[in-house]
Amino acid sequence: MGKFAVSGASTIWFLLISTLFKNVISTGLGKCPVYPQFPNFDIRRMTGIWYEVERSFYLVELSASCTELNVTLGDRGYLFITINTVNRWLGNPSTTYGIGIPSFNGSSVFRYKVNNRMPYVIGRLLPGAGQYNVLFTDYDQFALIWSCSSVSIAHADRIWILGRHREIEAALRAKIYAIMLEHKLDPDRLVISKNNNCTQRYSDTIN
Ligand SMILES: *[C@@H]1O[C@H](CO)[C@@H](O)[C@H](O)[C@H]1NC(C)=O
Ligand SMILES: *[C@@H]1O[C@H](CO)[C@@H](O)[C@H](O)[C@H]1NC(C)=O
Ligand SMILES: *[C@@H]1O[C@H](CO)[C@@H](O)[C@H](O)[C@H]1NC(C)=O
Repeated sequence: MGKFAVSGASTIWFLLISTLFKNVISTGLGKCPVYPQFPNFDIRRMTGIWYEVERSFYLVELSASCTELNVTLGDRGYLFITINTVNRWLGNPSTTYGIGIPSFNGSSVFRYKVNNRMPYVIGRLLPGAGQYNVLFTDYDQFALIWSCSSVSIAHADRIWILGRHREIEAALRAKIYAIMLEHKLDPDRLVISKNNNCTQRYSDTIN
């Protein structure tokens, strides 16, 4: 796997990627589906440390591992999000700062933008910018995050499972998959995030 990362776009690699895209990236005709707001969404309880446990395949994030988020609530009701990742092949850490702006007070839908010290136009083009929905969460164990963008007459969407720990146990995973199916999202699209040998940046006990 590591060799592919540095060998550039050989034809075989390109074909492999195209196949993966066809199979794993969910695209559809028409606009993004609209999900209802998560009832009684409590933004305060979304704060704290989250780990990326599973996600749908996304090329840009292929090299990221040990992804962890530190979410705090600003006084204007915005979420300030610090995302730490470690490059899976090079081992070097990177940090991104972003802001999640709720659609309205109490909404579980956020516009996310990267908050590095750079003009907004550039920040908007960086991977990660866009609209994110908290489809479901119990706040204490997991959150199901979904993002979708419409591209002319089609749409493409992405899914993440965030956990309060780096691993989630089988029973909880089954529950999350059931919730996904209720939302007509296919759990087969998920890949387990690379969480091997992550240094424990934050204490694993929340609360
Ligand atoms: C999360 O970020 C906030 C604000 O930057 C910081 O004060 C806090 O210490 C961080 N939490 C952890 C567990 O590092
Ligand atoms: C959002 O609404 C809640 C209760 O309705 C209120 O306490 C809070 O201050 C509001 N937040 C903002 C940022 O307006
Ligand atoms: C984790 O780190 C150890 C020691 O540095 C190494 O031997 C092992 O191969 C690593 N495991 C993975 C899955 O990267």
